[in-house]
Amino acid sequence: MQVYVFKTEQDVDTYVGQQISTFIQDNDAPVIGFATGSTPLGAYDYLIDSYQSGKTDFSKVRAFNLDEYVGIEKDHPQSFARAMKDYLFSKINIKEENIYSLNGNAKDMTKECKEYDQLIINNPIDIQILGIGMDGHIAYNEPGSSFDSESHVVDLHPESIQSSLDYGFTKIEDVPTQGVTQGIKTIMKARQLIMIAKGNKKAKLVERMLYGPVSEDFPSSIIQTHNNVIVVLDQCAAANLKEETYERR
Ligand code: PGA
Repeated sequence: MQVYVFKTEQDVDTYVGQQISTFIQDNDAPVIGFATGSTPLGAYDYLIDSYQSGKTDFSKVRAFNLDEYVGIEKDHPQSFARAMKDYLFSKINIKEENIYSLNGNAKDMTKECKEYDQLIINNPIDIQILGIGMDGHIAYNEPGSSFDSESHVVDLHPESIQSSLDYGFTKIEDVPTQGVTQGIKTIMKARQLIMIAKGNKKAKLVERMLYGPVSEDFPSSIIQTHNNVIVVLDQCAAANLKEETYERR
């Protein structure tokens, strides 16, 4: 595992943006797993700039979203599919048919999850971008999720429901109580994971994720066992880490 600590959030964004755009430029059929949430937005801004300045062509990129709310339409203003479309996909030349996401409003969620897993098997993810939730989740794999899980429906943890207020819901009662997510097993199949965390509020979580036991009680701890993972932090998120365990960038 490589752990890189940057001075500012913007340095983190630039580094992650560069990693992804370079990969896309160097590969014929890149498959990128995108995360929602506020953490990767700056890296997505970098990708938009990189497209607009003619440096990165997204026409061959296939994109997989990590997770979704259950019970809302894909084009609901707060759906993760819509958030990714509005923030990033509509501003780059990715092809609509190359964007894949779980449909949280599918009639048969078991079938939906199986088909999504099969799509990922057919299009193995090269780089999966990840953030860490306030309860230690990755995607919507909440504490207690099996490390052996494929895509599945989950009951959202109260912390995750609370965090959804940052994503455009105005009332807690409007936030869906269930999500559908790539499972840990699905996520761990990605060739490379890029885990991003920024800010003081993530410092204790990052410490637990990197130094704590690998345990289903704290799902993001699983990344310790992946053979190709880069953890990209700003100084604030790295505040509880020991100097000798990371590289200052
Ligand atoms: P955040 O969410 O980027 O908004 O902090 C991270 C997550 O829940 O995975």
